[in-house]
Amino acid sequence: MAAQIIDGKKIAATLQQELLERIQKLKEKGVTPGLAAVLVGENPASAIYVQSKIKKCLELGLFSETVRLPQDVSENTLLQRLHALNADARIHGILVQLPLPPQIRERIVIESIAPEKDVDGFHPVNRGRLQLGEETFVPCTPAGVQQMILRSGVKISGQHVVILGRSQIVGLPLALMLAQKNPSANATVTLCHSATKNLSEITARADILVAAIGRANFVTAGMVRDGAVVMDVGINRVEDKNSPKGYRVVGDVDFARVGEKAAAITPVPGGVGPMTIMMLMQNTILAAERRL
Ligand code: GUN
Repeated sequence: MAAQIIDGKKIAATLQQELLERIQKLKEKGVTPGLAAVLVGENPASAIYVQSKIKKCLELGLFSETVRLPQDVSENTLLQRLHALNADARIHGILVQLPLPPQIRERIVIESIAPEKDVDGFHPVNRGRLQLGEETFVPCTPAGVQQMILRSGVKISGQHVVILGRSQIVGLPLALMLAQKNPSANATVTLCHSATKNLSEITARADILVAAIGRANFVTAGMVRDGAVVMDVGINRVEDKNSPKGYRVVGDVDFARVGEKAAAITPVPGGVGPMTIMMLMQNTILAAERRL
């Protein structure tokens, strides 16, 4: 039986309507939420990500500013720009697009963003708050994954969630979020990574399987239980001579074959991606609401 396709665009559109109401309320109080995106260098993927974030800001009527810095910018110059954004009352959220060039220390940069403007949820203060189960900014991609599961009518509480990948941006924070004691989480979480033994046996015991490793077609049908829910966070370019660009974008999951076994599955593109951007918008609105 073919799986239900979890439509990220549709769920993101519903969320967008809810956010528009919150933006309207803020505007009635004289506040326009503002997001600053900092883009260093010419990494084409980063440029596209930043562009789509800014485009979404404009669509929602948020204030936005893009700070573009050259590939060889010094760490000091970047830190000065961040200090200015921290002090700028029009800006409620700041994101520095990663990765950064080698002369710049990512840790120093992230720690220079004011925690109350850290809408990516990467600052150690916000990571610590997440670990403690306190109010924080949760990182956008894991937040999007959780919302997609819940809004597609899948129960998380009590389920066995297996996460592939322990990255600081997706796998690890998602594990913390879904293990929390609240009705939107309460999962039993297994976090797998490159040193995990008997991987297929573990993934085959997942009620909900999340793939966030960054390898095309890594998750094959043999790794998935009949009736599982499969969330694909991967964005991989694979060569495709039939495409005008010479490549196409696929996830970490063999969508065609896994889709025959799973109860529900997210496509790539059109799955987690649109939700990630919407969660960034939500965090920016939240930052503005918290400052009221
Ligand atoms: N690079 C890859 N993912 C992300 C993200 O979620 N936020 C930022 N700022 N950079 C990224």
